[in-house]
Amino acid sequence: MKRREFLKIGGMGAITLFLSGCGLAALSGTEQASAVTIPEKGSVSGGKAMKIVVITSSPHPKNESTSCYLADRFTEGAKSAGHEVFTFDAANSDTHPCRGCDKCGMDGECIFKDDIENTLMPKMLEADMLVLVTPLYYYGMSAQLKIIVDRFYSRTSRLHGKKSLLMATAYNSADWTMEALASHYETLVRYMEWDNVGTVFAIGCGSRSLVERSDFGNQAQKIGENL
Ligand SMILES: Cc1cc2nc3c(=O)[nH]c(=O)nc-3n(C[C@H](O)[C@H](O)[C@H](O)COP(=O)(O)O)c2cc1C
Repeated sequence: MKRREFLKIGGMGAITLFLSGCGLAALSGTEQASAVTIPEKGSVSGGKAMKIVVITSSPHPKNESTSCYLADRFTEGAKSAGHEVFTFDAANSDTHPCRGCDKCGMDGECIFKDDIENTLMPKMLEADMLVLVTPLYYYGMSAQLKIIVDRFYSRTSRLHGKKSLLMATAYNSADWTMEALASHYETLVRYMEWDNVGTVFAIGCGSRSLVERSDFGNQAQKIGENL
């Protein structure tokens, strides 16, 4: 499926959406920067080097993905501040959706011995901070990321207390674009007893050139630098 098809199939409404998404957000990055809270330098980590797990979930090639661009900019900032970053590519890894079999008892091994269980979970368990990164798919997180989130089930309580950040990109630039995702994330943070560091919601960023021209990459990098 080509990147623009999501909007093409929507007819005139989608064309309006596409036009509004195409320019405005990229041009008004400063205005939107105000919606993002950049932490004060050292306020999140207390000046200690943190272990950070970044989970990306776009099926696009990394150098074309808008959400991976945000992940890269955040990572650049976090590494420059001395933090250790492990990145997991949920879209190109061996993952399986939770089957709800309850063999894990919410605190044990998963029946799937895939990349989530063998690679990601051990990294998440020892991490100080989890960063969820997603393209907006039908106003929620991507299925690729949701698979990871559902697999938190096997270690739910052991994943409590982490610091967290959500970054997302979307074509649409209307102010309500990220509402449903923001609400889901807020509830997730509450249930997981996470310490929310913030969100970067890159609206109007349906292509790599748009996100690169916007201010959202700077915001992501600054958050990483200031942890
Ligand atoms: C299956 C699918 C669903 C999408 N749903 C939305 C949507 O609900 N709202 C929106 O503004 N953009 C939507 N988009 C556009 C993507 O969010 C947007 O192109 C994003 O920049 C892609 O990020 P990526 O390059 O990191 O994958 C959708 C794209 C796809 C392929």
